[in-house]
Amino acid sequence: MRNEIESILISEEEIMEKVQELGELLGKEYDGKNPLLVGVLKGALPFMADLIKKMDIHLEIDFMDVSSYGNETVSSGEVKILKDLDTNVEGRHVLFVEDIIDTGGTLAYLKDLFKYRKAASVKIVTLLDKPSGRKIDIHADWVGFTVPHKFVVGYGLDYAENYRNLPFIGVLRPEIYQ
Ligand code: PRP
Ligand code: MN
Ligand code: MG
Repeated sequence: MRNEIESILISEEEIMEKVQELGELLGKEYDGKNPLLVGVLKGALPFMADLIKKMDIHLEIDFMDVSSYGNETVSSGEVKILKDLDTNVEGRHVLFVEDIIDTGGTLAYLKDLFKYRKAASVKIVTLLDKPSGRKIDIHADWVGFTVPHKFVVGYGLDYAENYRNLPFIGVLRPEIYQ
């Protein structure tokens, strides 16, 4: 599988260092608040799993699975909920955990939804931010790395459901998707 990767953009060591740093920051921010960390499936899984182990506080986790409607002309951030939370978020401090923000559609929708559901606060931590892809003006509260306008895979990010299990973030060889 690794020979299908053109170059490594962010190494496993760099990711782990960043996750440690973010975990410590978030631990301080949310200490005593019993936050609900919401992982957005499937991409957020490796990041979420590593991040929570670096937060030495009481917290809860839950997951949502959503998909874009996939209609390019409707870039309103409209998404379909495939799996909702098992937790009532009213009055809770919610922290969304994402692998990447691209157009911003997924998180813009989820943030609005959770405000409507009366969460006490709704914030976002994303491992990667790709500002060049943005269609909706939304910013994460914590960003691991800003990435260029390239097709990146690994550490949760897929191409056709593959490569999520790579321990680093890499750029796929163009011949794989052409
Ligand atoms: C990817 C990624 C983010 C979202 C970002 O998920 O994991 O959740 O897209 O894109 P956006 O900012 O343009 O909304 P995807 O929908 O591909 O599902 P997956 O996590 O299961 O791969
Ligand atoms: Mn995702
Ligand atoms: Mg995907």
